[in-house]
Amino acid sequence: MTMEQRNEAKQGVPMLRLKGVRKSFDGTEVLHGVDLSVDAGEVVAILGPSGSGKTTLLRCANFLERADAGTLELAGERHDLATTRPREMADVRRRTGFVFQGYNLFRNRTVLGNVCEGLVTARKMPRAQAEERAHACLRRVGMDDRCDAYPVQLSGGQQQRVAIARAMATDPEIIYFDEPTSALDPELTGEVLAAMRQLAEDGMTMLVVTHEMAFARDVADRVVFMEDGRVVTEAPAREFFERPANDRIRAFLRMAGGTTA
Ligand SMILES: Nc1ncnc2c1ncn2[C@@H]1O[C@H](COP(=O)(O)OP(=O)(O)OP(=O)(O)O)[C@@H](O)[C@H]1O
Ligand SMILES: [Mg+2]
Repeated sequence: MTMEQRNEAKQGVPMLRLKGVRKSFDGTEVLHGVDLSVDAGEVVAILGPSGSGKTTLLRCANFLERADAGTLELAGERHDLATTRPREMADVRRRTGFVFQGYNLFRNRTVLGNVCEGLVTARKMPRAQAEERAHACLRRVGMDDRCDAYPVQLSGGQQQRVAIARAMATDPEIIYFDEPTSALDPELTGEVLAAMRQLAEDGMTMLVVTHEMAFARDVADRVVFMEDGRVVTEAPAREFFERPANDRIRAFLRMAGGTTA
């Protein structure tokens, strides 16, 4: 199934729905029952101050942290986050992609090897087919001409584009991004955002934690604003920026350089 066909098939059922997600660390609750959903083909940006729980939420959604309560529905299939079994976790992970702040590429593998790895080992795809797919994904992010390079030979922006190609390669139902540009020099941020914009235009379903207000405004369909472990505001992106719901959002946007309105 192509991405478009899949998105059409999912009309009416959110691609991702998180309900009542709770998480404590050392007796302190940092997620107080978060609800969030992302439709097929939709790009949702999560904004919010440092420490509001954005990373923890994404990590719970991908079982990198074990939530204390809550459910995750992926294309309508429901999983209890607190009790999900390893096999279920592996299945959900196989159907989702994750792009971290630090690129997490294998240092001892080439660019092509990094993108192929998961296809060959986890998907059991024949090597030749995996390479073909990897080249296609690398072309999408403008990195195929560096397919024989090792990560250490690349800039941070280039490494992050490879990480995006790797996430795309497995044809996930949704890709989570956690501040994919925050470790980059400003001049390298643009190329990574351009690769993400391309992915969004291709119809990929994306949930993006970002401090890049321009990206959220221009590329996201919807903004979810978190504070103190809760979703406090949710709005179409344009409305979120042009008609901030309250003084708190206005102050946040001023600080983040989103607008001075
Ligand atoms: N492994 C951990 N152990 C203990 N506390 C943690 C752990 N991870 C996160 N926290 C706490 O949970 C809260 C939410 O952290 P989280 O990293 O999710 O915030 P964030 O919104 O991603 O912030 P930032 O914008 O700075 O990345 C914070 O108070 C943080 O100190
Ligand atoms: Mg974070």
